[in-house]
Amino acid sequence: MDALPWRDAWHDALYAAGRGFYVTRGGPAEHFTTATHGVTGAALAEALLRLWLREHDGLPAVVVDVGAGRGELATHLLRALDDVSPVEGSLPDTPDPVEWAVSPTDDGWKVPTRPGGDDDEWAVSPTGDGWKVPTRRGGEDGDGWGVPTRPGEDVEWAVSPTDDGWKVPTRLGGEDGDGWGVPTRPGEDIEGAVSPTRVVAVDVVERPAGLDERIGWMRSPGGAALPDELAGLSDALVIAHEWLDVVPCTVAQVDTGGTTRTVLVDPRTGEETLGPEPSDADRHWAAAHWPATTPGDRIEVGLSRDEAWADLVARVDSGLLVAVDYGHTRAERPSGGTLTAYRRGVQGDPVPDGTMDLTAHVAVDSLDADEVGRQRDLLRRLGVRGQTPPHALASSDPLAYLRALERAGAEAELIRPAGFGDFWWAVKRVAGRDVT
Ligand SMILES: C[S@@+](CC[C@H](N)C(=O)[O-])C[C@H]1O[C@@H](n2cnc3c(N)ncnc32)[C@H](O)[C@@H]1O
Repeated sequence: MDALPWRDAWHDALYAAGRGFYVTRGGPAEHFTTATHGVTGAALAEALLRLWLREHDGLPAVVVDVGAGRGELATHLLRALDDVSPVEGSLPDTPDPVEWAVSPTDDGWKVPTRPGGDDDEWAVSPTGDGWKVPTRRGGEDGDGWGVPTRPGEDVEWAVSPTDDGWKVPTRLGGEDGDGWGVPTRPGEDIEGAVSPTRVVAVDVVERPAGLDERIGWMRSPGGAALPDELAGLSDALVIAHEWLDVVPCTVAQVDTGGTTRTVLVDPRTGEETLGPEPSDADRHWAAAHWPATTPGDRIEVGLSRDEAWADLVARVDSGLLVAVDYGHTRAERPSGGTLTAYRRGVQGDPVPDGTMDLTAHVAVDSLDADEVGRQRDLLRRLGVRGQTPPHALASSDPLAYLRALERAGAEAELIRPAGFGDFWWAVKRVAGRDVT
């Protein structure tokens, strides 16, 4: 078989219809563990939402996970959205216990007059203004809020009848003090609410069986290519966790004469030879971001990743994008390159024959981003500390203690140096287009 540029052989090996590794060999989780799996995934999802909430009033309209595997992170994000009120520090202070007032319609129903109460009974107002409303975790109501009102009714917001400035849901068309939607009364089984945020997962396979039906699924061509229908995203939080490292790139090497040449590979054996010089665009990228002149030095040309990322950014009209990946910056480019393979948890020599994952670290500082930093630093800023709970909790509430202990362990994993903490985050903010 003819040797091919790594970029082409790599793309076929991972994404070719009917034989690519990611198309035919089960989900990534069958071959390696990532931070999106299990308890670390739950902590990561909450931190990503917290990042959004620190910069926006209210929840995003849509959360998109690109390179979603089998929906692991999307599932955690959905749960975090349902549980949004426990995201500490991300919402206005809500110290008061819930109080109830009789509905102004005087029908015996009561309305909540202040946020508070149990964390899992509260969510952010669908008006995106940071107010909280009572909900029930796991409720269902199509794509919108399960709204704490009578089933089938839309909700508007009005100032609380106790005149304390808080808002409560009302019937559509209701005015302050008129036509309240009577959300509930204490002890009443509250009509379930779900987050108003759509969650969409994007990957190269059909929708996985068993995925929560509230998660939308989009099938993608794979590699640098994204689905056409992923476009015009507004008020969107877009996450690409370990996507860019599997976007195939040109691999080049400096030959004995000092000329940079494209590395070709035999797809059956992985045997490499040196081919022609890279394209002008690849050479320009290398000159700008990864200059190498020592014979034998390798360059993983990040242009295809930059372009794939820019394509994703261009699909967002307003919002926040976060790429999370293995990476390096100019100060520490690995002279031998990072291209490697994984199969069933075992790292090995890369052979682009469709039987293994092929991955190379991302030149994160060439991505179009407003902020690039180590995961451990960004997560710490978001309050992820991995602090163990006070020991007294073990006797006062043993179950809560165990849960907090597990969460602390997950957080510590996410920020651990020489572990997930070394990942890079590239954050890009897209302001809404001006409406005139
Ligand atoms: C290394 S795995 C990471 C999976 C998951 N994000 C995680 O961190 O556990 C990379 C995933 O990206 C997917 N992928 C690659 N190119 C893609 C594309 N253009 N659109 C959507 N998914 C893509 C692969 O199929 C694979 O599931």
